[in-house]
Amino acid sequence: AFITLRQLLDHAAEHGYGVPAFNVNNMEQLHAIMQAADETDSPVIVQASAGARKYAGAPFLKKLMEAAVEQWPHIPVCVHQDHGASPAVCVRSIQLGFTSVMMDGSLLEDGKTPASYEYNVEVTRKVVEMAHACGVSVEGELGCLGSLETGTAGEEDGVGAEGVLSREQLLTDPDQAAEFVRATGVDALAIAIGTSHGAYKFSRPPTGDILAIERIKEIHARIPNTHLVMHGSSSVPQEWLEIINSYGGDLGQTYGVPVEEIQEGIRHGVRKVNIDTDLRLASTGAIRKFLAENPKEFDPRKFLKASTQAMKEICKARYEAFGTAGMA
Ligand code: G3H
Ligand code: 13P
Ligand code: NA
Ligand code: ZN
Repeated sequence: AFITLRQLLDHAAEHGYGVPAFNVNNMEQLHAIMQAADETDSPVIVQASAGARKYAGAPFLKKLMEAAVEQWPHIPVCVHQDHGASPAVCVRSIQLGFTSVMMDGSLLEDGKTPASYEYNVEVTRKVVEMAHACGVSVEGELGCLGSLETGTAGEEDGVGAEGVLSREQLLTDPDQAAEFVRATGVDALAIAIGTSHGAYKFSRPPTGDILAIERIKEIHARIPNTHLVMHGSSSVPQEWLEIINSYGGDLGQTYGVPVEEIQEGIRHGVRKVNIDTDLRLASTGAIRKFLAENPKEFDPRKFLKASTQAMKEICKARYEAFGTAGMA
């Protein structure tokens, strides 16, 4: 059945667990997520980014989600729109039947220019008013995702602030977070703690100076009843980097957010954990390996099955690590 983000995260807060929110672009990713949820009895958040809507088209994505609910009727599914750049984008998703939307007012509509606090409050409040009238949940974002090592959002092609950001922009302020939640009425708040989108998050295994888990604790202490969201939460498994590189890939040395750090966040109010890159890495690694080892194979279902299996293993591991397993 479809559920809203609010319903799911209220349950998660009551029982002290977190929910991975996986990005979806195609059937194989959704199969992996749903099979893993089925095997671990986990509730699901699937989310569609602007890139996914461009790739598959919003109607296709929505029908995929409907198919998932029909095929696995016992699994609660929250269908979330990731990083809405404007109220109009959110309205379109509400119209399509998404049960949750993110209004990312930390950046202007171009998805590149850091926005003022006042702009962020204005657009987010507008979306909350419309979404709540339709029974749809809203995630807002305060602070800009980006690396405390370099001051940049990192990803070349995707969403993210342009230029160099200050420490103040890269770390969500606890007092301002309290004011933002009060002024907007959001159901969940994405915070900036030094993570960024994509595979290149940290040049070394992260320590407290570049991954500010302590900041989560300060924010949670200030707004204990607000569901916190961590973006850029892929762990970038070293084993998948090695597989990709040993079968013809060329990825640089890089580190993600360790699962133990996410678990620490979950102990301090983090309820939604956004993961996209890890499934991309597992999928690419599995396909490279399969095709290298089976040079005579040309049925795409064979390598897509290997890809689905690899993504499913990541999903299961996250459901188990975040305490989502058994909560469906
Ligand atoms: O928001 C970031 C997600 O990883 C989605 O990326 O826009 O390339 O689909 P994307
Ligand atoms: P990753 O790139 O770390 O998987 O983050 C995804 C994300 O935050 C989507 O909104
Ligand atoms: Na989101
Ligand atoms: Zn994100």
